[in-house]
Amino acid sequence: MSKEEKYQLLVRQIKALVEGEEDEIAKMANIAAMVHSEMGFWWTGFYRVQGDELVLGPFQGPVACSHIGFGRGVCGTAWKEGKTIIVPDVDQFPGHIACSSESRSEIVVPVRCPSACESASGSSEPIVAVLDIDSRSLATFDETDRVYLEQIVSLLF
Ligand code: SME
Repeated sequence: MSKEEKYQLLVRQIKALVEGEEDEIAKMANIAAMVHSEMGFWWTGFYRVQGDELVLGPFQGPVACSHIGFGRGVCGTAWKEGKTIIVPDVDQFPGHIACSSESRSEIVVPVRCPSACESASGSSEPIVAVLDIDSRSLATFDETDRVYLEQIVSLLF
């Protein structure tokens, strides 16, 4: 199966999995588990915006850093810039936070809460979390990952 076909199947499975579930953390937990097991990544998880930092949320994989400041590391940068960041080689990303020395490449996708949903900040479509995925190989992530992972996080709300 190609990566695109795997993601297409994954999107259908995640839609079924989160249907009827209201709790954001329960949805994040099952999405992290399903993306991680189906795609075979090294670390897959959410960091949730709590005030002026990101706090570790539901994840699969090794123990990770619990708090990341705004604009810090790949996660804090994706939050600050409000866009998906693909890092082909983490050693080349200034300020990369090495939670695991095994990580070689990474993608971070912001999670937006539609204006209708409740949010602490009250601004329209604020970023409420990021989805962070790490790989033990260089250059694992590309546009296909970006497109489908953005679609997957949009299923949270
Ligand atoms: N590498 C991330 C930190 C989180 S861990 O990869 C799980 C970063 O630079 O933001």
